[in-house]
Amino acid sequence: MIRKAKGTRDFINEEVLKIEEVERVFKNAAKKYGFSEIKTPTFEKTSLFKRGVGESTDIVTKEMFNVISSANLKKYLDGNYDLNKNGLTLRPEGTAPVVRAFIENNLYATQLPVKLCYNVRCFRNERPQAGRFREFTQFGAEVFGSESPFTDAELIAMVDEIIKELSISDYEVLINSIGCKKCRSIFEKELLQFLETKLDKLCANCNDRYERNPLRVLDCKNEQCLCETKDHPDMLDFLCDECSEHFEELKRDLDLLGVQYKIDTSIVRGLDYYIRTSFEIKTNLLGAQSAICGGGRYDGLVKSLDGPELAGVGFGIGMDRLIMAADASGHFQFDNSRKGVLVINLGVDNKHSIEFLKELRNNAIYSQLDHLGRSLKSSMKYANKLNYKYVAILGEEEVKEGKVTLKNLDTSEQICKSREEVLEYIRSNDNE
Ligand code: HAM
Repeated sequence: MIRKAKGTRDFINEEVLKIEEVERVFKNAAKKYGFSEIKTPTFEKTSLFKRGVGESTDIVTKEMFNVISSANLKKYLDGNYDLNKNGLTLRPEGTAPVVRAFIENNLYATQLPVKLCYNVRCFRNERPQAGRFREFTQFGAEVFGSESPFTDAELIAMVDEIIKELSISDYEVLINSIGCKKCRSIFEKELLQFLETKLDKLCANCNDRYERNPLRVLDCKNEQCLCETKDHPDMLDFLCDECSEHFEELKRDLDLLGVQYKIDTSIVRGLDYYIRTSFEIKTNLLGAQSAICGGGRYDGLVKSLDGPELAGVGFGIGMDRLIMAADASGHFQFDNSRKGVLVINLGVDNKHSIEFLKELRNNAIYSQLDHLGRSLKSSMKYANKLNYKYVAILGEEEVKEGKVTLKNLDTSEQICKSREEVLEYIRSNDNE
């Protein structure tokens, strides 16, 4: 048997209802906060992510799923296909594609700020574990054309609201500022000096990050690395006046919006585009993969992808983790009451049953015809298993008299009346 690929999942019955519920909560919040939805392709040019997310990031160096058609693979193997130029990649995150679409569709020429939200499948070749998948969904929101820290605060407030609405109370909003290019480079020099003395005690990944992106060492979850770097220099002490003012205003606006937060200088984010505000929302409900949401400001990204010089800020919520946290908080309660009508045809021409089924459906009544030729006993069993409220029986007697026998499986009450009367009876007893 061919099984699903590692790190992917099938969503069945209630799992789909949970997705629908969190989608509804996200969409309502996004609408309330003035976002309109954008849909971008599932795959993009590889170069978009290399340039957009950053050549040295884990996503680009290790985790991208690059796709190639069979025909191009043959060309590639024959040395006639330039992967650097033509390569395609399954979207590992939502921001770079939205920035690309924002530029390509000249959305910057409309009224600023432009506020876009999305609900997209993402793909990363990470080691699967609880809460970490190779295919997952991000709910995201991006705002273009506002440098104001109020925009950052408002985005954080929106996620805070979504999380609360899903009954999750065990979570923390962690904020930080990683400064601008200018003040960060001074900090990075200081950090490199600090790390240099610790390199032999840090993990291989941190040694690699020390070379490529020293800030990311602060994001390592390894116990020993955490212990060795706990007295690291603090980026907040290095912020220039503008970045410091931006951060102070962000905190004030979060207070005004009633968002509880903590400052956490280890929130440095794994993607290269961030400046100033970086934030994550973490929960204890999920084990190691504790981040439900990550985001921040990326003022240089639009320009670096050949757009105009425009500010940007946004977040990505991991929908799968959001559902897991909502589940662990007992949020999902589905209606298990009996519903609908199972029409049972008992040994007569099923023409009458089909006609009755059609009338039921015309009246928006959830109904099915049991057409697998079961005995009455097994049909009743089936109706009970599937939680039908009624069975409608059409046998020889009923057909002869133009009637239907209707049994309420909740109350065992039974009537035998004309089709119109039975329809009316169901309609007046049920509003579903
Ligand atoms: P990110 O932190 O890489 O940021 O991902 C955002 C969220 O996606 C994470 O907090 C997590 O909940 C979820 N996530 C990431 N990887 C996985 C995975 N393998 N399995 C399940 N969930 C996962 C970004 O992607 C940025 N684009 C966010 C952003 C938007 N920044 C500004 N605008």
